[in-house]
Amino acid sequence: MACGRGRHARFFLAQGRAVVAVDRDLSGIADLLGDPALEAVAADLEDGRPFSLAGRQFAGVICTNYLHRPLLPALVAAVGPGGALLYETFSEGQQRFGPPHRPEYLLRPGELLDAVAGELTVRAHEQVLVHRPEPAMVQHIAAVR
Ligand SMILES: C[S@@+](CC[C@H](N)C(=O)[O-])C[C@H]1O[C@@H](n2cnc3c(N)ncnc32)[C@H](O)[C@@H]1O
Repeated sequence: MACGRGRHARFFLAQGRAVVAVDRDLSGIADLLGDPALEAVAADLEDGRPFSLAGRQFAGVICTNYLHRPLLPALVAAVGPGGALLYETFSEGQQRFGPPHRPEYLLRPGELLDAVAGELTVRAHEQVLVHRPEPAMVQHIAAVR
């Protein structure tokens, strides 16, 4: 989700996995667009229209460095049986280190735990100051169905 230059899409394609990559701007994965294992979806995830992957489920749902709160339930629902959600993005406290500063882009304490509660089993979760590639307050979660 919000795949950018396809850091994770590239990793999983290299593992021989089929990948669906979504972003409003697919230019970052232009070099991958001919790959038969890749389904590239150009979609604005914030335009209020129904989620472009609604009704589909996946072995893995991966979202990093992106937050659009209204989308969280749809991302959780997209995790298929036995599948995993891997999510990491900035959290409150990040304001001390740099952008993003706006509250709508910063997770509240425990927000990813709340997002999966009753749906997925949490395998790992942290709200933590990371130092690489630069200091940042992040929250990350690995949760399975
Ligand atoms: C900071 S980048 C993160 C890219 C990637 N997830 C990563 O961690 O390397 C944020 C991505 O979100 C995408 N994005 C921002 N707003 C979006 C929207 N409304 N709909 C779809 N994608 C959006 C941008 O195009 C960009 O690729």
